[in-house]
Amino acid sequence: MERKKILVTGGAGFIGGNYVQYMVDKYPQYDIYNLDFLTYAGDLTKHKHIETKGNYHFVKADIADRETIMALFEKEKFDFVVHFAAESHVDRSITDPGVFVQTNIVGTQVLLDASRVVDVTKFVHVSTDEVYGELDFDPTTFFTEETPLQPNSPYSASKASSDLLVRSYNETYGLPVNITRCSNNYGPYHFPEKLIPLTISRVLNEQKVPVYGDGKNIRDWLHVIDHCAAIDLVLHEGVNGEVYNVGGHNERTNLEVVKTIISTLGKSEDLIEFVKDRLGHDKRYAIDPTKLEQLGWKPIYTFETGIAQTIQWYLDNKEWWEQIISGEYQNYFQKQYSL
Ligand code: NAD
Ligand code: DAU
Repeated sequence: MERKKILVTGGAGFIGGNYVQYMVDKYPQYDIYNLDFLTYAGDLTKHKHIETKGNYHFVKADIADRETIMALFEKEKFDFVVHFAAESHVDRSITDPGVFVQTNIVGTQVLLDASRVVDVTKFVHVSTDEVYGELDFDPTTFFTEETPLQPNSPYSASKASSDLLVRSYNETYGLPVNITRCSNNYGPYHFPEKLIPLTISRVLNEQKVPVYGDGKNIRDWLHVIDHCAAIDLVLHEGVNGEVYNVGGHNERTNLEVVKTIISTLGKSEDLIEFVKDRLGHDKRYAIDPTKLEQLGWKPIYTFETGIAQTIQWYLDNKEWWEQIISGEYQNYFQKQYSL
């Protein structure tokens, strides 16, 4: 296979980090450039074992820093861009929306401009099912690629805006693009502000687990490695200009997820504490992945096998998440919850 240069933005974060490791291992003939600004969500310790591999490279930069990004693209002339970098946490977008506009919208536009200048072969924009808004509790309804965009949070509105910019660069300038819209991910290196790693880490420390509202909101969970495989497939086989939804039909209420983790760890459900609901809390997400399946994608994890693997990973890698929750995270947690 031909040698290629792939720029992965946000490769120090949760999904981007798993994707970088997946690609470095799978494609020794590709040079993988991880570009990340190392915000609170970025961490490079996870890549210690690939740093010595000749095909992994790291660049610290802000995707919204036009001058730096343009100069980097002109120097490296990337073949592919896989764009993960973003502010990703809905609760943070409710308290501080400005940085979401700057990184998710302005940052994406800068990357699109730079990709045009060097004629990248493919720009894959990693987006989210949250751009479709919410579904009601009728289990026969799903988000398809034709569902209108109706984002409800500042986070999802910023992602929807970036999706539209990507679409427009394809239509207007002919930049080859794909957009992927995935459901909730979970797995190794998930930052412990999100429901699953927050629950695992707090249950292991015998601390209360905050469940918003009545806990009946539904999310559609996908193991991060199944997401990485989907993006790899879209990068190589996706039809120019197309959107692909990614999801494995794993709908669970938040309460079911929390109870599964508590029972797997052999702890008491008394740890559950119902707290004030999230503003504008979307009721239900559920993905119809038919289009991606037709391209040849099939997840390897069920929710049961995936959550068992993930819980075991958090048990085996305590030093990774303990170092996170003992730092600045404490201030965030105190402001967000009063437990
Ligand atoms: P994350 O918050 O774990 O990681 C984001 C990464 O982006 C971090 O390493 C951070 O340092 C970096 N970053 C932030 N601002 C930056 C900037 N200005 N310049 C360069 N780097 C910057 O996020 P995640 O959960 O891994 O999500 C990755 C992508 O996937 C996001 O675009 C998100 O919208 C999308 N997505 C996430 C999920 C999910 O369940 N987590 C589901 C669907 C889609
Ligand atoms: O659907 C894809 C999206 O999934 C991604 O685009 C986002 O980047 C990602 O953060 C995630 O968004 P959610 O808001 O769905 O994930 P979160 O883990 O924050 O919350 C999952 C559900 O759990 C949601 O209904 C809110 C609830 N929740 C969350 C937290 C943090 C709680 O009940 N208690 C909590 O403490």
